[in-house]
Amino acid sequence: MIPSQYYSFSGIVVTLYFFFLASCVLQILASPTPHYCRNDQRDALLEFKQEFPGRNMNSSSYNDMSSWNKKSDCCYWGAVVCDAKSGQVISLDLSKVALNNSLKPNSGLFKLLYLQRLYLLNCNLYGEIPSSFGNLSHLMELDLSINNLDGQVPSSIANLTQLRYLRLLENNLSGKFSVSLANLTNLVQLEIGNNYFEPELLPDMSRFHNLAIFWGGNFFGPFPTSLFTIPSLQWVDLGENNFTGPISFGNMSLSSSRLMFLSLEDNKLDGPIPKSMSKFLNLEQLDLRNNSFSGPFPTFLLTIPSLTIVNLAQNHFKGPIDFEKTSSSSSLGVLNIADNKFDGQIPESISKFHKLGELDVSNNKLEGNVPGCLLSLASLKLSHNSFTSVGKSSSQVSEQAEMRELRLDSNSFRGPFPYWICEMRSLEFLDMSNNSFSGSIPPCFRDITKFLEVLNLRNNNFSGNLPDVFVSATKLILLDVSRNRLVGKLPKSLINCIAMEFLNVEGNKFKDKFPSWLSSLLSLKVLILRSNQFYHPHVSVGFQRLKVIDVSHNDLTGTFPDFYFSDWFGMCQTTTLLNLENDVIYMEYLIDMNNYEAFVMNSRTYSSSMEMVYKGVDTKFEKIRKDFRAIDFSRNRFYGNIPESIGLLKGLRFLNLSSNAFTSNIPHSLANLTNLEALDVSHNQLSGQIPQDLGELSFLSTMNFAHNNLEGPIPRGTQFQRQNCSSFMDNPKLYGLDDDICRKTHVPNPAPQKSEEEQMISWIALAIAYGPGVFCGLVIGHIFISHKHEWFMERFRRNNPRVVIRSAR
Ligand SMILES: *[C@@H]1O[C@H](CO)[C@@H](O)[C@H](O)[C@H]1NC(C)=O
Ligand SMILES: *[C@@H]1O[C@H](CO)[C@@H](O)[C@H](O)[C@H]1NC(C)=O
Ligand SMILES: *[C@@H]1O[C@H](CO)[C@@H](O)[C@H](O)[C@H]1NC(C)=O
Ligand SMILES: *[C@@H]1O[C@H](CO)[C@@H](O)[C@H](O)[C@H]1NC(C)=O
Ligand SMILES: *[C@@H]1O[C@H](CO)[C@@H](O)[C@H](O)[C@H]1NC(C)=O
Ligand SMILES: *[C@@H]1O[C@H](CO)[C@@H](O)[C@H](O)[C@H]1NC(C)=O
Ligand SMILES: *[C@@H]1O[C@H](CO)[C@@H](O)[C@H](O)[C@H]1NC(C)=O
Ligand SMILES: *[C@@H]1O[C@H](CO)[C@@H](O)[C@H](O)[C@H]1NC(C)=O
Ligand SMILES: *[C@@H]1O[C@H](CO)[C@@H](O)[C@H](O)[C@H]1NC(C)=O
Ligand SMILES: *[C@@H]1O[C@H](CO)[C@@H](O)[C@H](O)[C@H]1NC(C)=O
Ligand SMILES: *[C@@H]1O[C@H](CO)[C@@H](O)[C@H](O)[C@H]1NC(C)=O
Ligand SMILES: *[C@@H]1O[C@H](CO)[C@@H](O)[C@H](O)[C@H]1NC(C)=O
Repeated sequence: MIPSQYYSFSGIVVTLYFFFLASCVLQILASPTPHYCRNDQRDALLEFKQEFPGRNMNSSSYNDMSSWNKKSDCCYWGAVVCDAKSGQVISLDLSKVALNNSLKPNSGLFKLLYLQRLYLLNCNLYGEIPSSFGNLSHLMELDLSINNLDGQVPSSIANLTQLRYLRLLENNLSGKFSVSLANLTNLVQLEIGNNYFEPELLPDMSRFHNLAIFWGGNFFGPFPTSLFTIPSLQWVDLGENNFTGPISFGNMSLSSSRLMFLSLEDNKLDGPIPKSMSKFLNLEQLDLRNNSFSGPFPTFLLTIPSLTIVNLAQNHFKGPIDFEKTSSSSSLGVLNIADNKFDGQIPESISKFHKLGELDVSNNKLEGNVPGCLLSLASLKLSHNSFTSVGKSSSQVSEQAEMRELRLDSNSFRGPFPYWICEMRSLEFLDMSNNSFSGSIPPCFRDITKFLEVLNLRNNNFSGNLPDVFVSATKLILLDVSRNRLVGKLPKSLINCIAMEFLNVEGNKFKDKFPSWLSSLLSLKVLILRSNQFYHPHVSVGFQRLKVIDVSHNDLTGTFPDFYFSDWFGMCQTTTLLNLENDVIYMEYLIDMNNYEAFVMNSRTYSSSMEMVYKGVDTKFEKIRKDFRAIDFSRNRFYGNIPESIGLLKGLRFLNLSSNAFTSNIPHSLANLTNLEALDVSHNQLSGQIPQDLGELSFLSTMNFAHNNLEGPIPRGTQFQRQNCSSFMDNPKLYGLDDDICRKTHVPNPAPQKSEEEQMISWIALAIAYGPGVFCGLVIGHIFISHKHEWFMERFRRNNPRVVIRSAR
């Protein structure tokens, strides 16, 4: 699945030969001759067309093959360009036409012997690259990117010595690549990233005298110093390779280098950044993220006047941040130094970067006051440090504050709600969680809710009411005010949050009727009201999309009608049908005890968390789960029947009804919950037998029937027989476990125990993602790549006016 955003960028290709443009223009202007298509070329093209019976006829691409027929001149067919004099086909561009087949070794394509440019970018091609490509010896440009081609790159490619431009990105190619490279020393652009090539040493690249763009492969070994001796080099992406050791540029003179983009992310490079790097005077983007670089803050890098984006995240840099020697004419716009060991304060001198728009210093050991000038950024991430305050006063925030993302979470902020936040009218993302903010949440908060998508105030010391400030909060997706000391009722203006998917008010002192009115929020998927003082019955219809509800530890009471769950469609589904449900936001549940609150870099992905407290649940859930459905009604005062309609919630994996006063039988319909993994009905007054069919629920590994009036045989299923007898204790008439001790342990009054006494295990962290392109890491990668490319192509065109850049669209 490649997102559509990607198509539009990756189709951009570079043509380095001005005469091509000239010749195309000449053809169009000067040669209206109706019949100059050569028959052999026409037949070869028609033969080629025949090879793709499964191609998508509905392709919107203008250069689809539908115009290819014997009646017209093949030089006027879509996607085809002929040489004006000879009538030979010299260019074929079928980018984005879903050909949906493999390329045959004897394909008509290989009869087009005069082809100079061939674009089969994103054509849904699979199978191997035929060695017959070696016949197309006039090829200067070949683009087979974004297909499912596999196998080795044929060594016959080495025959294509005219090749200037070779793109094989995003396929499933394997084997060693560099053999095919041997004689392609005229290459200007070589892009082979995102394949499955065998790890190999990067060959000496210095013979590629014209190389400007080099992307990827699967190379290892020491830092490829020789690559940087190529004077034409401008764009290098060696991310996700396996280079080790320090960066070194020998005694090279770098100041004449044209290098604009350098990515070495996700390698194993170490040592300090050499000072000589500051001589790359044209460098605009530098990505060194996720290596083992060490040493002090490389302040010298920031003296490169053109440098715009710098990413040093996930390394071992340490010591203070220092901007002393940098100049105020710097172009720096984005600085990411997250996940290092920087300490001390952010110096006030950061104010000299007038163009700085984004700063990420998360996960360091920074402390003290955050310079107020940073409040003018578009994105400021301070998470997981020891900052205590921001700015000097609210006067630092100007009217034109355009901050969209502010992360203050897990620091040492304390004191009242910072009023300057109310000035940030463009905020989309605000995370103040896990600090010691206190006092009330001010009514001025209303001013910043218009664009807000995520608001996380979890784990602070806020008190008073949650003010009625959500009237304009129509974009709010996630609201987490859990673990504060909020009182009173839930504000009715929450009814305006039509985009809300995740609401967590757990661990406060809200005292309100059960908010059944929330059922009109049709996007709501996760509702956590746990550990408050909600009261009254909550009989209502609705909650159609709900996937997780936790109302445990409240004062709710009442009975459930039998049909109660019949319209809880969100829990009926057994899988997450992302597309069908238009499920843009709700991503996945991350069941990982150690990753309680995870932040995913480089995307607008955000993880908040919830916990469900459950007795005896297996702690080994570590997988990411996309299809988690849960109901926790425990520790209330519900009574009467467990409704039969519970059996309709086919997706349910977790059901906790314990510590209530249910009196019915255990409904037989539970046996229909084939995904159920954990069931707790303990501490009720249930009677009758445990339905024997429950023994067939193969995922049901954790269960608790203790402290009821159940009778008869325990089901024979292996999952049941594997249970500890404490799961059945205090049901005097229950029998069938090997161990009789259970039955004999008689606790007369099944009074709920205090939570500290139980072996409670917090086991769920919920990952909620927001924004586009967050469905899987792969997609995030694609988008990131495409942006890099777009950015580069724009610069490349500007600096190379003779270069023709065309879009394959
Ligand atoms: C590709 O062709 C196969 C049959 O060869 C067909 O089942 C499949 O739906 C086609 N895919 C597309 C995207 O057209
Ligand atoms: C093409 O589009 C038509 C209507 O838009 C549709 O009925 C047909 O199934 C489509 N064919 C393919 C191969 O996608
Ligand atoms: C193409 O190259 C292959 C070898 O790779 C050769 O066997 C074949 O004859 C060539 N075809 C043409 C049309 O030249
Ligand atoms: C290499 O190209 C020549 C024509 O220039 C052709 O005769 C030969 O078959 C090609 N070799 C391969 C391996 O394709
Ligand atoms: C890619 O190739 C590998 C073997 O090299 C194979 O195991 C894998 O299934 C292929 N993946 C796809 C998506 O074709
Ligand atoms: C590279 O070119 C040289 C000389 O043109 C030739 O001898 C050699 O066989 C070529 N290597 C490959 C792998 O084609
Ligand atoms: C990198 O190299 C190490 C050691 O040689 C190897 O274990 C690891 O699999 C390699 N990783 C990649 C992504 O090639
Ligand atoms: C760099 O050092 C090498 C030997 O290590 C030498 O051959 C070369 O001439 C030096 N280049 C410059 C520009 O000093
Ligand atoms: C960091 O790089 C390693 C390979 O060196 C990779 O396995 C890992 O996933 C990367 N981490 C992140 C967060 O991208
Ligand atoms: C909360 O912040 C403290 C330090 O302020 C940190 O130790 C702790 O890990 C944070 N908790 C979470 C859940 O991030
Ligand atoms: C929370 O605020 C109250 C006063 O409002 C104070 O007594 C208490 O110490 C604060 N707790 C924390 C953890 O800051
Ligand atoms: C289980 O579901 C089926 C339909 O899927 C239904 O016919 C059956 O009555 C249900 N069983 C119980 C016990 O509810």
